[in-house]
Amino acid sequence: MSQDWLPLPGTPVEELDTPAIVIDLDAAEANIAKMQEFASEAGISVRPHTKTNKSPYWAWKQLHAGAIGICSAKVGEAEQMAAAGIPEILIPNQIVTTRKIKRLMSVAATTKTIVAVDSEANVSDLSSAATSHGIELGVLIEINVGMDRCGVDADIAADLAASIVKAPGLRFDGVMGYEGHTVAARDFEERKTEALRAMDKLLSAASSIRKAGPPVNIVSAAGTGTYNITGQLEGITEIQPGSYIFMDGDYLEVFEDFQPAMTLLTTVISRTADRGVLDCGLKSVSIDRGTPYAVGIEGVEVGKPSEEHTKISLSGEAKNLRVGDNVSLRAMHGDTTINMHDYYFCVRDGKLETVAPIVGRGKFR
Ligand SMILES: Cc1ncc(COP(=O)(O)O)c(C=O)c1O
Repeated sequence: MSQDWLPLPGTPVEELDTPAIVIDLDAAEANIAKMQEFASEAGISVRPHTKTNKSPYWAWKQLHAGAIGICSAKVGEAEQMAAAGIPEILIPNQIVTTRKIKRLMSVAATTKTIVAVDSEANVSDLSSAATSHGIELGVLIEINVGMDRCGVDADIAADLAASIVKAPGLRFDGVMGYEGHTVAARDFEERKTEALRAMDKLLSAASSIRKAGPPVNIVSAAGTGTYNITGQLEGITEIQPGSYIFMDGDYLEVFEDFQPAMTLLTTVISRTADRGVLDCGLKSVSIDRGTPYAVGIEGVEVGKPSEEHTKISLSGEAKNLRVGDNVSLRAMHGDTTINMHDYYFCVRDGKLETVAPIVGRGKFR
């Protein structure tokens, strides 16, 4: 397939073809640096979750800033990251079928790989595969810290750890727990109370495993919304934030600790007296966390997108918008919007610096 349409470095933003994900490089790089600085001061490590950015371009920036490795949500994402030479990948998720475990082994053959487990059966399957591939696979026990997604209860963690320690081909590295449910609490103090309650479970699992004998080298937790709560706790060794890199509309409602770095550049394709139509829709912007909003211009009210169109109601200065003009939108959910695009158009001082492929898009298997 021809890629000739990709714009050259130096192209002004307003000449980019749309809809396009535009990244403000200064803002994203400042976010990466800020998270790393926080972690260094707190004496913990950052293992950024690349489920947000899905791109080795950003993973490498995070590693160069000091991250110890990355997280990838799925084997498919991990395959893309391993192919790009990323040296250490944690899949904080359960990989359970023969087919996927085989692919996991191929990733682990080239890259230091750690995976989460929450069942004895999975431990046994991973052990057999690692042994037959001659691989040592790192394993973290996922603890259910209150999200009620994956993970075991803290009180059975020591038994599971004992099984992992005995399992050939597996290296017991520690525990993880994701307190994502606490981000629903937008008030900081409320979120802190919830997050501390969640982390009690993770830390008690770590201590019961240690009491039983096995060392627990990794205690991994947190996302963007709890980085500065969980990340300050004695006993946590690393955090797994993802969204901080670009900060979507939803996270900007939680806090402004990090800068918004991502917009969706769109074009007005039709105009009537008080409304217009943008060239984006459900195939280029997600609405699972709400309708996107316009940035950098007053008087644009964004309607619910349909497949390829988004109606906008116009007032004030926005009535000057003409067919062909650009409107920048902020998606409420970055991850699901990014997953629909092939490229980031990375911009500095209003000009394109790099087009970065989103190789992990659609890699949900
Ligand atoms: C296991 C795990 N760790 C970390 C994160 C990162 O969260 P955030 O994007 O909120 O920083 C997620 C997000 O869903 C997650 O599932």
